[in-house]
Amino acid sequence: MSLAAPSNRADTHVFRYAQRMGRLKASAIREILKVTELPDVISFAGGLPAPELFPVVEFGRACQEVLAESGAAALQYSVTEGYMPLRRWICEYLRTSNSIECEPEQVLIISGSQQGLDLIGKTLLDPGDYVVIENPAYLGAIQAFDAYEARYLNVASDDDGMRTEDLDRTLRQAPVKPKLVYIVPNFENPTGVTLSLRRRHELIQVCADHGIPIYEDDPYGRLRYSGEPLPSITALAKGRNTIYMSTVSKIIAPGMRVAWLVLPEPGLYERVVPAKQAADLHTSSFTQRAVYAYARVPGQVEGHIADMLPVYRRRRDLMLQTLARAMPKGSSWTHPDGGLFLWARVPEGVDTQELLTHASEKKVAFVPGAPFWVNADVRNTMRLNFSNASESALVTGIERLGDLVKTHLARA
Ligand SMILES: Cc1ncc(COP(=O)(O)O)c(C=O)c1O
Repeated sequence: MSLAAPSNRADTHVFRYAQRMGRLKASAIREILKVTELPDVISFAGGLPAPELFPVVEFGRACQEVLAESGAAALQYSVTEGYMPLRRWICEYLRTSNSIECEPEQVLIISGSQQGLDLIGKTLLDPGDYVVIENPAYLGAIQAFDAYEARYLNVASDDDGMRTEDLDRTLRQAPVKPKLVYIVPNFENPTGVTLSLRRRHELIQVCADHGIPIYEDDPYGRLRYSGEPLPSITALAKGRNTIYMSTVSKIIAPGMRVAWLVLPEPGLYERVVPAKQAADLHTSSFTQRAVYAYARVPGQVEGHIADMLPVYRRRRDLMLQTLARAMPKGSSWTHPDGGLFLWARVPEGVDTQELLTHASEKKVAFVPGAPFWVNADVRNTMRLNFSNASESALVTGIERLGDLVKTHLARA
């Protein structure tokens, strides 16, 4: 007997899906994958770092060291909280790079920041709870919180990030007290915008006044190409009422799936640990040790970041210059000081979701903006990644994008 007897009745009669699954949408992403898989397509869609910059040789050396020094332990199960030497390294890294003072006992190693979003959702959110987010907001956070049936209060952003005066009003008018304010303060995904220092202070004050914790998601803070570094919200608030999260994905490589939550508020850590235990027992023992073996080499992480910055800076500048040349009148875009993305607005009437279905004609891909907006129907925005394509591909791709938008406008 065949093990998987094909039956189209299975879907409707045997597997009765949880209600929450109805909220998990993948359609925009599926459309993008269809386009990016076509040959010769230049893609600005993913949030992918430049693969040619990955420290493959150095990481190979770190892996060899781990196997030689502690091979059996690296291949064994380990504790949910994470590998202690890595947690100590993270404390030192956060102290020197970000002025965050924390103890290793407050650091939880997670399998990518994406897992952190899921774990915080699992720990804090009941169905129908409100989370305050930026608008537009990081799609991965919306997906993670959607799985816990969250509702959203959205606060608009401008060039200085989330508008804190609107946040205060939103919180005062909230039907019930939100559980969390979630924010990506540095070079936000998707807009590339950074929360100004004044607004960081105001955010802390407003959230303290309303007794609402801040979840600071900071994957991009170290990737700054212009302007002055700003202190993290967690550092400014001295960890009071904050959750801080960052990752090796953008400073070393995303395939490692190693990230961390800093949970200084008493009691929270002990709640999140069992949530993680239920999800995956622990982040890969081997990878955690390999990341530590890579990071413990003096100057290696900082040297790698220093090598990436000029490459990404040039790509950002090139994308900005080419957009200015290639896009039709009535288009605009953000000018990020760092990170991996910028956010473009094309003339009203162009639906970027529909534009993407024609993108295969011009062999260029991007992420349509609509899914990043919450409680709003905005059709004419898109997210563009500038880190992944080579300089020449980047110029050609943006020229194609400009042609695509112009053709679409002419047809409209
Ligand atoms: C704001 C934000 N949070 C979290 C993540 C997920 O990162 P990780 O690779 O650590 O799971 C990303 C990835 O692009 C992101 O942009």
